[in-house]
Amino acid sequence: MVAWISGFITFDPGLSPMGTLVLVGAQWGDEGKGKIADFLSEQADMVVRYQGGANAGHTVVVQGKEYRLHLIPSGVLSGKTCVIGNGVVVDPAQLLEEMERLQAAGFDVSRVFVSDAAHVIMPYHKLFDVLEEDRRGERKLGTTGRGIGPAYRDKFSRVGIRVCDLLDARVFREKLEHHLSQVNSVLELIYQREPLPLEQMLEAYLTYGERLRPHVTDTSLLVNRAIDEGKRVLFEGAQGTLLDIEHGTYPYVTSSHPTAGGACIGAGVGPTRIKRVMGVVKAYVTRVGDGPFPTEETGEAGAWLRARGREFGTTTGRPRRCGWLDLVALRYAARLSALDSLAVTKLDTLTGLDVVRVCTAYECDGARLTEWPRCSEALARCRPVYEELPGWQEDISGARRLEDLPPAARKYLEAIEEAVQVPLAIVSVGPDRRETILRAELF
Ligand code: IMP
Repeated sequence: MVAWISGFITFDPGLSPMGTLVLVGAQWGDEGKGKIADFLSEQADMVVRYQGGANAGHTVVVQGKEYRLHLIPSGVLSGKTCVIGNGVVVDPAQLLEEMERLQAAGFDVSRVFVSDAAHVIMPYHKLFDVLEEDRRGERKLGTTGRGIGPAYRDKFSRVGIRVCDLLDARVFREKLEHHLSQVNSVLELIYQREPLPLEQMLEAYLTYGERLRPHVTDTSLLVNRAIDEGKRVLFEGAQGTLLDIEHGTYPYVTSSHPTAGGACIGAGVGPTRIKRVMGVVKAYVTRVGDGPFPTEETGEAGAWLRARGREFGTTTGRPRRCGWLDLVALRYAARLSALDSLAVTKLDTLTGLDVVRVCTAYECDGARLTEWPRCSEALARCRPVYEELPGWQEDISGARRLEDLPPAARKYLEAIEEAVQVPLAIVSVGPDRRETILRAELF
């Protein structure tokens, strides 16, 4: 499938048309998945979130108006069926607030569905998220404070509350009563906090349940039926590969599976139903939160990238750590998710540099590594080995084909393809939907 034509790997449109595509972040999140997902949603019939929760966030601009979404896939803005799968941890207040806001702006939310098996973020999850971060002190993870880790912990400890529980007052009372007594013991004994009142929580969450009831369903059935009917289904990953609980920079990770395999578990579809996997790669790297980041630039270059790329968190507003593109990490991401195409975003941010650096290997404890070390302590000792490529000064936001790009920008993209041996499908050269180079029809 890999052939060389004018430097770029042929993007084989023979794989199209296809029915399902998983979109994953290939770095530490914030790769610009929002724009690519929005772009692909246009061609999809259904958009499915499969992991994470309201820790994710993207801003989509439609006709000059900005919409910030944390849980509902941006496909809702183009009237697509949107699914929040079983692998997502759902904050019902956040979900209802997003639905209301969209409805008030004239969007149809009747086809937003949430899995009956998805776990629910409870008030104590958010509280523990903050208390535990405080307690970690120097070793803090830099979480978003949205209760994500504690909610997944309860899920795996088998004491979680699921969306279906909110629809049955008796079951919900029984489960919450039992679990809250343990939660309150921890709050009182370890954190010297007041216990949380049961009745108030019961009432609030049963009300959320009633309001969500028309949207709650077995979403695995819904998604699989859509695939059976030949519908085009986009699985939209949140966060990024290097934040994956299994494969990321543990413990500086989120508590879910942003990698492509997560789509199967988190949406309830089998691996043979996934046809394509696209990785979203920012033209440089950012990270929010703590943890190792070999190509981080803490000085002038980092500040330049942050200012040029407007690198501040959508969910928390935190300034993002910035650095050069890491091809070792990208090869690792391509392997983990078997990426078969790439979307490179924010290429325009690099315009104006004399020299652009890409990391091709690491020096670690006197050895040269070309594969990602799985141990975060080793990764923290890695020093990047850079290749320097010429920069470009031309405004590239008007480019609509690879041929429209200046030679240095093309060379940069070719270097990415060459390193990971995965063809480029999309290159984003500006925030607007139109500022996009598309190499083939993707569905
Ligand atoms: P948590 O997901 O809130 O538990 O945070 C764990 C780590 O993942 C922290 O480093 C967060 O900054 C990071 N993180 C969580 N969600 C996102 C995201 O959507 N983009 C980038 N980083 C994220």
